[in-house]
Amino acid sequence: MAARCAWPSRLGPSIPRESPLSALPAASTAHATEPLARGGVASLWPLCLSVAQRGAAIDARAPLAWQPGVGLALQGDWDTEAHALFALLKPLLDRCAEGTDWVIGQLGQSLDGCIATHNGDSCFVNGPEGLVHVHRLRALCDAVIVGAGTACLDNPQLTTRRVAGPHPTRVVIDPGLRVPAAARVFNDGQAPTLVVCDPEHAARAVKRLGAQRVVAVARSAAFGGQMPLVEVVAALRAHGLRRLFVEGGGLTVSQFVHQGCLDRLHLIVAPLVIGAGQPGLQVRRSDAMREALRPAARTFALGSDLLWDLDLRAPAAAG
Ligand SMILES: NC(=O)c1ccc[n+]([C@@H]2O[C@H](COP(=O)([O-])OP(=O)(O)OC[C@H]3O[C@@H](n4cnc5c(N)ncnc54)[C@H](OP(=O)(O)O)[C@@H]3O)[C@@H](O)[C@H]2O)c1
Repeated sequence: MAARCAWPSRLGPSIPRESPLSALPAASTAHATEPLARGGVASLWPLCLSVAQRGAAIDARAPLAWQPGVGLALQGDWDTEAHALFALLKPLLDRCAEGTDWVIGQLGQSLDGCIATHNGDSCFVNGPEGLVHVHRLRALCDAVIVGAGTACLDNPQLTTRRVAGPHPTRVVIDPGLRVPAAARVFNDGQAPTLVVCDPEHAARAVKRLGAQRVVAVARSAAFGGQMPLVEVVAALRAHGLRRLFVEGGGLTVSQFVHQGCLDRLHLIVAPLVIGAGQPGLQVRRSDAMREALRPAARTFALGSDLLWDLDLRAPAAAG
């Protein structure tokens, strides 16, 4: 894809961060006749972050505790939104609690499968709830990965500014170093940024970013001239980045799916039709329906968007 790096202001409407997160009310401090306030998302989210950062609570009476055979369980009185958020995040939180590494991808797409207009405008495909979800995934992960196309077109920050939580390390897959050195991720100082590039460009990247920030991976004919992503994932893990979030764009997420390097994919479908826009997921062609990729799937409402949580590791559903 040709480099096109005009960066219009794409910050969009200002959406406040979630309010500071309060602790659940303790039963012992409430008056016997007062109904206890039900826990909401604002109370649940810091517990989720805590699991991601420190693992599960050992105390079986904790609101979010590990139960053998069940995994993490949400206990106590919680409202509907909190239950929905927990159900959506549970597969990821369970793996955090187990200490297992994982890779998740996302694409926000229209009803006709586009992730941006034909000229690359993707602000915004999804509504505010979908955007908050993307920032939550960033906060739960060690690193957020984008391809060179997204870094050039969107000049993103890739921070968690819509939610409480740490910024992940930013990773740009940019084999030929076509992303300008002036890109925000290399200059705003909000979080470290690594670049994954072809070995022939590594010396230039080291000069620009320093050796600690450069991962060199050669393209391979065996992978259709693409970088083997298993090598990219292994190199990032060697940098201590174990939970990875592939945020886009379409080519990058599709490569992760095609190469079998994604555990889950969140497809967030917005009720709009873009028309002949940038394609989202592009996988190998199926000649017969029985060959189609048919992952185990769950759906969640995110405002007016519908999130498809696809488990790419579960046994294929019957066709
Ligand atoms: N709606 C959403 O959720 C969402 C999210 C992010 C981005 N976007 C939009 O998506 C569009 C950009 O997407 P895109 O699909 O064109 O590009 P992209 O996925 O952002 O970047 C693709 C490029 O990254 C490099 N790359 C990625 N994986 C690689 C691999 N395994 N091996 C070698 N190189 C690899 C290649 O760079 P080279 O070409 O330099 O070799 C490739 O052409 C933008 O319009 C952006 O706004 C939408």
